Amino acid sequence: MRILISLCAGLISISLAVVAAPPVQKCELCHAKPGFQKKLDNGQIISLYVPPDSLAQSVHSKRECNECHRDVNEIPHKPGLQWVDCTGCHYIGNLAGAPELPIYEQYRESVHGRAALAGNKKAPICQDCHGAHNVQKYHAEGSPLNRQLLPASCGRCHIEAYRQFASSIHGKLLSEGNPAVPTCTDCHGEHTIEKPEEPGSAVFSTRIPETCGKCHAAENIVSKYGVSIEQVETYTESFHGIATTFGSKKAANCASCHGSHDILPATDQESRIFPANIPKTCGKCHPEANANWARGKIHVNASNKDAGIIYYVAAFFKWLTISTLVGLVINIILDLRRRLMKNKKS
Ligand code: HEC
Ligand code: HEC
Ligand code: HEC
Ligand code: HEC
Ligand code: HEC
Ligand code: HEC
Ligand code: HEC
Ligand code: HEC
Ligand code: HEC
Repeated sequence: MRILISLCAGLISISLAVVAAPPVQKCELCHAKPGFQKKLDNGQIISLYVPPDSLAQSVHSKRECNECHRDVNEIPHKPGLQWVDCTGCHYIGNLAGAPELPIYEQYRESVHGRAALAGNKKAPICQDCHGAHNVQKYHAEGSPLNRQLLPASCGRCHIEAYRQFASSIHGKLLSEGNPAVPTCTDCHGEHTIEKPEEPGSAVFSTRIPETCGKCHAAENIVSKYGVSIEQVETYTESFHGIATTFGSKKAANCASCHGSHDILPATDQESRIFPANIPKTCGKCHPEANANWARGKIHVNASNKDAGIIYYVAAFFKWLTISTLVGLVINIILDLRRRLMKNKKS
């Protein structure tokens, strides 16, 4: 009986809540007044003004105010509302019509999601990256997440990475509108961002060659800009590349020599690979490195005459191998012939 009563009471309160949910126009009574604001205890002023058309141009133009602000179910409403939970609609199997993507699952496992769920107030939740009322498709011109604006959006929290990136070759060309250079998420991912020391991270030491290689080994991307695709192959065949392929975290990957956010062409004096800076760059791991190290080319393509002595040594060994093999095959054929003749005779 008690159960039945509480069940009825529950149903009544639910239906009351549904009936009581105020229509959107009601919000405008207060929130559409320009200058509507509140003052925090510390004197800071927070604007509570929400222009009536603020959702109109967003992807959520068909959503009602309290579909997101779900705890506003009476007017006047109480202060201290909850943060909007975007994952109330953005999950696989949702009935709201939001795209079916495993974003929450990815985000939850990422460095940001883990930190936010553990209570780190500085870690971004969905709206910190996407915005609140003016959420756009990420590639839209006004989205803070489009390729060009994204670095500044991440840079609100990652100031040093942003500062370096903005003056790198990639960052400078990105701000000029070059469509082929990377933005933060091309190297880090979006909802899957990880610490560089996590093996799953796209910038984990042994995965960096693959991450840079997405573009630097692709003729249709970097070659258009006069940058050779040889660098990735020559790296893979180098001491460092072979050691990295076998899982060495000590050998140099692309970022050990080029940097990650401050990458510059070899001709730029500030570049880590500018000849005068080579001893310092290599010296991190090879204390014996001196100015002479600048003489050896790093990305050596042994099948190119520019490689000098290495080309001739490689060519010598190539022809030595070929002639040895040819000699061996001739020897076998002659031997077989001799045996056959012998058999026929006997
Ligand atoms: C009678 C005026 C009034 C109406 C109508 C009203 N609000 Fe508010 N709203 C306020 C006031 C006052 C505050 C500031 C509360 C406080 O002191 O934190 C506020 C704050 C908010 C906040 C911010 C909370 C925070 O802590 O920053 C949200 C979100 C909000 N209202 C949503 C809504 C929605 C959605 C509706 C319509 C369903 C609505 N309001 C209708 C007066 C109103
Ligand atoms: C797509 C979800 C969504 C919809 C729809 C939505 N809001 Fe919000 N609103 C947010 C988010 C996100 C914030 C930022 C604070 C937070 O995360 O809770 C916010 C913040 C606010 C605030 C606090 C002041 C500010 O601008 O940060 C007010 C007031 C508010 N909304 C009122 C409204 C009103 C009125 C409507 C309907 C016209 C509305 N919201 C519709 C997501 C939404
Ligand atoms: C009440 C349910 C609901 C809530 C809450 C909600 N969304 Fe949405 N969202 C949708 C629907 C439905 C669409 C699809 C709109 C369309 O295609 O017309 C959408 C679309 C989007 C898109 C565009 C996706 C694309 O590629 O088309 C983004 C980005 C987005 N939402 C982010 C957010 C963020 C960030 C929040 C929290 C601030 C949020 N949403 C809260 C229902 C919701
Ligand atoms: C660290 C910033 C960041 C956070 C936090 C974040 N997103 Fe995103 N989100 C992005 C970026 C960047 C893109 C653009 C993806 C791309 O370039 O392919 C995106 C894309 C999307 C899209 C559109 C996907 C598509 O392919 O159309 C939706 C929907 C979305 N996010 C929802 C969410 C939701 C829900 C959350 C919270 C669980 C969230 N995001 C948290 C940065 C973020
Ligand atoms: C060309 C690829 C690339 C781009 C573009 C890039 N990063 Fe990174 N990022 C890396 C690599 C590689 C590391 C790991 C560096 C290491 O282990 O020394 C890294 C490390 C980081 C770290 C960890 C701490 C640190 O600074 O070492 C943060 C935070 C970070 N990046 C943020 C960003 C932001 C924000 C942007 C955009 C403004 C960005 N990254 C653009 C490759 C990139
Ligand atoms: C609202 C602030 C905020 C925004 C926006 C933000 N981050 Fe972060 N990010 C953090 C915080 C806080 C951490 C540290 C979490 C921890 O260590 O527990 C972090 C961690 C990271 C790390 C790992 C850093 C390390 O030292 O290991 C990377 C990489 C990173 N963020 C990249 C990005 C990129 C790329 C974007 C943009 C798409 C972005 N972040 C947007 C706050 C932010
Ligand atoms: C999204 C594609 C992309 C990714 C990922 C990428 N790059 Fe680039 N990078 C480019 C393009 C395109 C250029 C050519 C820009 C120009 O000079 O016009 C470039 C230029 C460079 C240059 C200067 C070349 C020159 O001759 O001016 C260096 C060095 C470089 N990248 C190294 C790296 C390293 C190291 C990584 C990984 C940590 C990386 N890049 C990741 C696209 C990419
Ligand atoms: C051991 C250090 C080292 C490693 C590891 C390394 N590079 Fe280089 N890279 C250099 C040096 C030094 C130069 C300039 C001289 C040369 O071309 O040999 C250079 C030149 C380049 C250039 C041409 C830059 C210009 O301005 O002409 C590109 C692009 C490049 N590297 C990309 C990569 C990529 C991608 C990787 C990883 C797959 C990588 N490098 C790994 C040291 C390194
Ligand atoms: C992140 C650390 C690191 C950096 C930076 C680095 N190396 Fe190395 N290098 C190694 C390791 C570890 C090995 C041993 C690899 C192996 O196991 O074969 C190695 C091996 C070599 C070898 C072959 C073995 C030998 O000692 O003769 C040469 C040559 C070399 N590095 C040159 C360079 C040059 C030139 C630079 C700078 C442009 C450089 N390295 C930058 C870590 C590094």
